[in-house]
Amino acid sequence: MEQMTDRNRRLVLAQRPTGMVDDTTTRLEVQDVPAPGPGEALARVRYLSIDPTIRTWMDDAPGYLPPIQIDEVVRAGGVAEVVESNSENYSPGDLLFGMTGWQDYVIADDGARAMQPLPPGVAPTTALSAFGITGMTAYFGMLDVAALAEGDVVVVSGAAGATGSTAGQIAKTKGAGKVIGIAGGPQKCAHIVDELGFDAAIDYKSESVGARLHELAPDGIDVYFDNVGGEILDACLANLALRGRVALCGAIAGYNDRGGAHAIANTSMLIIRRGRMQGFLILDFLERFPEAQAEMAGWLASGEVKSSEHVVDGLEHAPDALNLLFTGGNTGKVIVKV
Ligand SMILES: NC(=O)c1ccc[n+]([C@@H]2O[C@H](COP(=O)([O-])OP(=O)(O)OC[C@H]3O[C@@H](n4cnc5c(N)ncnc54)[C@H](OP(=O)(O)O)[C@@H]3O)[C@@H](O)[C@H]2O)c1
Repeated sequence: MEQMTDRNRRLVLAQRPTGMVDDTTTRLEVQDVPAPGPGEALARVRYLSIDPTIRTWMDDAPGYLPPIQIDEVVRAGGVAEVVESNSENYSPGDLLFGMTGWQDYVIADDGARAMQPLPPGVAPTTALSAFGITGMTAYFGMLDVAALAEGDVVVVSGAAGATGSTAGQIAKTKGAGKVIGIAGGPQKCAHIVDELGFDAAIDYKSESVGARLHELAPDGIDVYFDNVGGEILDACLANLALRGRVALCGAIAGYNDRGGAHAIANTSMLIIRRGRMQGFLILDFLERFPEAQAEMAGWLASGEVKSSEHVVDGLEHAPDALNLLFTGGNTGKVIVKV
């Protein structure tokens, strides 16, 4: 086990960003390491899950969780290792998942700050990717919300990212007829077809998404797993098959620029095609994680699903790591090694 450092570095929200996060958004503070009280444990943060939603929490806008307050540690999930414990639920050396925040140390308790043990035998980075929020979102979004059926023509956006790459592979594994991924750039498009087994890819940065969807899915899209919103969502709606399903997972195209978000024009296709469009939050599926993780373990072992991680070294680089999600600088799950 690594020696405890005697100080706790923490990145707090200094100023709300208007677009991308920059040097003025967070402030590094160095404080004493907190002492665990009765029933509490002190854990050293090892890895941070970098998620687009962190950017939405930085806005002073209504959301599914309250905004991060100014001077508050940036909220984030992560994996931490127990170093000292006054709780019978946690022992030194335990690896835990929970809301660690962008800092070196976190206190875990048995109440509001409870943390969960990692699934046995699962590496911390896999616990944050395939077995974590993005893998579980892909699983329940594709199988429950989109109700994937055998033979379906499936389209996934953000297809080289953590959630999209997993969603597309799950669709393939579960018998989709055709899986089309939408991603930015030729390298990502080659990656999802050559390495992840997607049937086709559309490079939204250099191709007309609508025209390519028409070519690749001439009978329409049965399932669209939407990670981005905006114009790509509109193009998929325009190409919906009869009784097509749209699972609204994320709308990353608008997170940095809420005011400029694209107005969706093709919702009438849901009427014409008797389609269904449903948003969802993975928080509603927490109790069902064990069943999904059991199936995911089998797919990872067989190689039917591959999980890739983009690890950035150093707590101080967490803001840059967050920006990767918006510049498309990542392939797979973005994780910060603290
Ligand atoms: N509903 C839920 O409970 C839930 C849970 C987890 C995640 N999500 C959502 O799922 C989505 C993916 O999250 P993730 O953590 O897996 O991130 P990710 O896909 O690993 O990374 C984000 C990717 O989005 C793409 N992107 C960024 N801006 C874009 C734009 N303007 N238009 C099109 N693509 C753009 C980039 O890929 P390119 O290089 O291809 O542009 C980037 O790599 C996000 O919308 C997130 O909010 C929802």
